[in-house]
Amino acid sequence: MIGIVSIVLAVLQVSSAACDTNKYANSTPIELLQAYVQINTTTYNDLTPAVEFWTALAELADVSIETHELVEGFPILVLKWPGADSSQQSIMLNSHMDVVPASLEDGWTYDPFLGIIDNGIIYGRGTQDMKSVSIQYYSALRRLKENNVTLLRDVYMTLMPDEEVGAESGMIPFLKTDAFAAMNVGVELDEGTPYPLPMIALFYQDKVVWQIQVDCHAVSGHGSSFPATNNTATGKCRNVVDRLFEFRDEQYEIAATALPTAAGGYTSLNLNKLNGGTANNVVPSVVSLVFDIRLSTTLNEVQFDAQLREWISEAGDNITLTYILKNQQSPATVVNSTNPYYVAISEAAEELGITILPTVPPGSTDARHVRNAGYPAFGFSPMPNTELLLHAVNEHLAVSVFNDGIDIYEEIITRLANIPADSTTTDHSAYLYSTAT
Ligand SMILES: *[C@@H]1O[C@H](CO)[C@@H](O)[C@H](O)[C@H]1NC(C)=O
Ligand SMILES: *[C@@H]1O[C@H](CO)[C@@H](O)[C@H](O)[C@H]1NC(C)=O
Ligand SMILES: *[C@@H]1O[C@H](CO)[C@@H](O)[C@H](O)[C@H]1NC(C)=O
Ligand SMILES: *[C@@H]1O[C@H](CO)[C@@H](O)[C@H](O)[C@H]1NC(C)=O
Ligand SMILES: *[C@@H]1O[C@H](CO)[C@@H](O)[C@H](O)[C@H]1NC(C)=O
Ligand SMILES: [Zn+2]
Repeated sequence: MIGIVSIVLAVLQVSSAACDTNKYANSTPIELLQAYVQINTTTYNDLTPAVEFWTALAELADVSIETHELVEGFPILVLKWPGADSSQQSIMLNSHMDVVPASLEDGWTYDPFLGIIDNGIIYGRGTQDMKSVSIQYYSALRRLKENNVTLLRDVYMTLMPDEEVGAESGMIPFLKTDAFAAMNVGVELDEGTPYPLPMIALFYQDKVVWQIQVDCHAVSGHGSSFPATNNTATGKCRNVVDRLFEFRDEQYEIAATALPTAAGGYTSLNLNKLNGGTANNVVPSVVSLVFDIRLSTTLNEVQFDAQLREWISEAGDNITLTYILKNQQSPATVVNSTNPYYVAISEAAEELGITILPTVPPGSTDARHVRNAGYPAFGFSPMPNTELLLHAVNEHLAVSVFNDGIDIYEEIITRLANIPADSTTTDHSAYLYSTAT
């Protein structure tokens, strides 16, 4: 791939002195989660200890691990669990190593990087987002292997370095590599979120983010001058805010009555930064606003861009619009009987007696990049009856929910990887559809 250098740092076969496999030889899954939480993988930290951790786990499971460092300091790990027929499209189980910042001073009961278990609950950064899921994938696959279960299709565990900051050094370039192409992926599983009810959300699409900066320019003046409101930077920006908040109120009306499963049906918009002014007695020449917008999945991107420009031009002259972030809307993964991957997950849920709810989350994950690359993807984290604490203080997970999740993945992975040979189309985009109007 042009511009991308794929460095395979290590392909392990036998024990190497570098990694301490004995350390984890007798660890239970929850002990592995504790050990992983204890590695401080706050985004931009050196991930070498995490790479060593996964290298040791790969070795314990006797599977290969490759490290692709497409951008220096941002390793991407790929663990391969071979199936009986590697010519079949594979199952990709993705998670990210990085976590958002956390410190005791933020008000945590326990140090967020210790993984303390108290009263059947593990506390720590990554216990929901998403070190728990990585360990669950691994524990399920390892248990299957130890029980001599051979699956039909190859299963890959991929671990990304920078999901929390936009995947520019992780998933986005990885999807363009020969290494990814060689995986012959049929479907990808990615992160979901906890659900406060006895059910698990299955995300089949994400809401993409646009961040815009609006700069209102006008003629600066002495604090005692008195220009018409519409000729001031603040007055022009007020017009912008008024119009965008009118839209916000309309969308809020829809959101307020929408089911939690229907976040795709409205566009959220927040004014998150206001900047301007140089001195208390100077009328400013420029005021700027930053809005964070999460697009409804049915919104037409071209029309919405034109709409924003129209509202801004109506607010006055000399107002500029700059995109800080303009993510491309992703297609949705088909969630009915025509998608064998969805059928496999549904059958697993039935077998397990759990409820899986196809839904669209209010935010987005790496899965959107996978769908944009043309592959069906689902966001799924087996955390029913769990308060949503992603990125929050005192992020935690019940140990029982964590352990049940391993059983859930064992069933789901088995069914996905045993979808009969040649019954999935090699045109994987057949399991995607556009929802934009
Ligand atoms: C974790 O890493 C972050 C980012 O480097 C750092 O600010 C923080 O102090 C670390 N926390 C601990 C407990 O080591
Ligand atoms: C799996 O196979 C190995 C080698 O044949 C055998 O030693 C082991 O007992 C088997 N494990 C189970 C759980 O059947
Ligand atoms: C100021 O501009 C806004 C937006 O174009 C307009 O609705 C309003 O009538 C103007 N106010 C005055 C006093 O001209
Ligand atoms: C726009 O801003 C520039 C620079 O501040 C100023 O020279 C110009 O007169 C403004 N144009 C209008 C129509 O207000
Ligand atoms: C499955 O979903 C796709 C996308 O929404 C739709 O086009 C198709 O008609 C559905 N098929 C069935 C059998 O429901
Ligand atoms: Zn996450």
